[in-house]
This record gives sequence, structure tokens and C-alpha cells, in this order.
Amino acid sequence: MGMAQRSGGLTLHSAGAGPNRDRPYGWHASAASPALSGWSHRHVLDLASFSVADFTTVLELAQRFRSLPVASGARKLPALQGRLLTTLFFEPSTRTRSSFELAARRLSADVQSFSPASSALSKGESLLDTARTYVAMGAELLVVRHRCAGVPRSLALGLEACGARVAVLNAGDGLHSHPSQGLLDLFTLARHFEPTQPRPASLQGRRIAIVGDILHSRVARSNLWALTACGADVVLCAPATLLPDAFADFVQAPPPGQALDPVVGRGRVTISRSLEQALPGVDAVMALRLQKERMQQQLVTSFASYHRHYGLSHERLALCGRPVPLLHPGPVNRGVEISGALLDDPAISLVEEQVRNGIPVRMALLYLMVASEGSGAAI
Ligand code: NCD
Repeated sequence: MGMAQRSGGLTLHSAGAGPNRDRPYGWHASAASPALSGWSHRHVLDLASFSVADFTTVLELAQRFRSLPVASGARKLPALQGRLLTTLFFEPSTRTRSSFELAARRLSADVQSFSPASSALSKGESLLDTARTYVAMGAELLVVRHRCAGVPRSLALGLEACGARVAVLNAGDGLHSHPSQGLLDLFTLARHFEPTQPRPASLQGRRIAIVGDILHSRVARSNLWALTACGADVVLCAPATLLPDAFADFVQAPPPGQALDPVVGRGRVTISRSLEQALPGVDAVMALRLQKERMQQQLVTSFASYHRHYGLSHERLALCGRPVPLLHPGPVNRGVEISGALLDDPAISLVEEQVRNGIPVRMALLYLMVASEGSGAAI
């Protein structure tokens, strides 16, 4: 069994027997580390509030977790032993929920999953009371997904008002935000450009195209905050029905609800209506799903015509002028936003790499939010 001791708000763990008790698998986190001591997010609700230092911290930690045997599931780290994480998903999920649960288990946390259909919500219990029930059972971190934007934030505020000691992590709320996806996309891109030292500067001056249903995408919104914070320029590409002109001003400072933008000198955001105009010279392309379940009306003539104009294939990607990687948060509509051949091309597609990277990135978030307990700072 591992031992844990408190130091400056951060829990330090040592492995059991073995020659290197204090640094299991070479892992050692210290509150004295400048990166870790600066973490101030009690809750993680969006990436608009992240500074470049915050992105650095997450990328650094994720890289450390990724390089340990724990990343492959070979060993577990004792960092969150005895701590309870609860996933509250009110929307379907394949990747995000299992990735959080796996990340928690690899840090030795206990994991509890809430299923809305069989819960007392159907008997009229409020969301806040449901959350308080899990906190009463000992949950220290609630990972929340909901179809309505703002639910994780109001839960966080409601729980704070009740004096509950719990952190809330937004796993996707309506069209608003999906911070862990934005961070794993950033990590994947940064590792693509600098495999041994992924950091915000790996993105500085790069040009990233995001193609697809941007209007309905919380992933695009989180990526906009993350990529521009790291100094990348983003070109958004979609028909006007899926990309209103106002998106060009999306990251204009200060972010909504904040007095100041925590980032100075963000990259630029531009809008393009055609792949022929958007792709030449970009360093990476991210495709997004047509999110039919969120569309209030028919916004594309047909999937076939969408694919003809905005679908990505080997031929279309050649417009970039050199080989560039392709990302997609999943789930993918094969043959709509990406051709099956491109999706399955390991020389180009980083889609499975994104899924793999989701685990160390989420381990980093859980570690920062639970083991280091943030600083207790307000949202
Ligand atoms: C995304 C989501 O749920 O917002 N998926 C994900 O988390 N991997 C994107 C989508 O649903 O298209």
C-alpha cells in the first residue's frame, strides 16, 4: 500500500516496497513545483479562465502520466487512493465518461456512476439535491455532462453555497464548453509538434483549421480558447448556417463573466466559407461532427451535399500543400465529415491518439483538482 502525506495542500505519495519508495515509477509531485503550486481552479468549467501557465501545468502533468507504466494500465498510482469521484452524465457518452472513469481508476480513486433514467430525478428530485446526495456519500469530485449550457456552473455555485467541499468538472454542457476535450486536443497537437516536450509554445504561430458544425460544437468553443491562448491562429470553415460571422469575435477579451482575459496576445480567429480558401498553409485540421441532435431546423441540404463541399478526404487535405495531421473529437459520421479512408489512415489521422491521450490529460485534471485540492479560489 502506498503512503500519503500532506504538504502545502498537495498530497505526496510514496509507493510500497521497492528501491524507489518515494518516487513510484519515477513519479514525484511536489507543491514546491512552480507549475503545480500555481494551480488555482477549484472547479474546471471552461477554458476561457485558463492562463498560459494553467495550460502548461496540464500539458506537463499529462506528459508525465503518459510516460509512466500507469498510462498503459500496467500499474496504478496511489495518488487518489480513498478519494471518491462521481460521474453524473445526463447525455450519452462513449469516450468522455469511460476515459474519466479509467483515469480515476489509474490514480486509485473510487468511481461511482449516476444514471439519470434509474435515479430519483424521475421522482422530482432537483439536480442540486441529487448532487448533494453524492457529496453526502463522500464524493470529492463530480464530473458533470448536461445538454443545457451552464448546469455544471450552477451546480458548482449551488454546492458552494451549501458549504459542500466538492469540485465540479464540466464534461460537456450544451453548446458551451467541453474543457477536457479541448485540453486533450491541445495535448495531442502539442505532442505532434513537440513529442518530447508538449507545451503551449508548441502551438505558437501555428495555423489550425476547424471544419464543420461549429455553431453546435462545445468542442470548437473550448478549442478556440485553448488554441488562441497558446498563440495559434484558428481558421473556422463551414457554411453560414453552421458558422455565424460573429464567431470571428469569439475570443475577444475579456471572456464572458470575467473582468480580465487571463491571456495576453491571443492568436487570431478568421472565418472561411470554403476548404479551398481555408486549408492552404495550415498546420493541422480538426473536423467536427454534424450535430443533428442539436439542430433546431435543417441546416444542411443533405449529408451528400455537405460531404461534397466540406467533407475531408485525402484529395481535399492535399489543399494544405504538405502532410498535416487530422483530428476529430468523435463520434464520427464516416463519409459525412471525413471519408472512411482518411479516418483510417494512420499516417494522417490522430483520432485514436486523441482517445489515448484523453486518459493522461484527465488524470492530470483529476490530480490537480483532487490531490492538490486547488487553492479553494472562486470560479
Ligand atoms: C463531443 C461532445 O460530446 O461534445 N464528443 C466528445 O466528447 N468526444 C463532440 C460531439 O458530440 O460531436
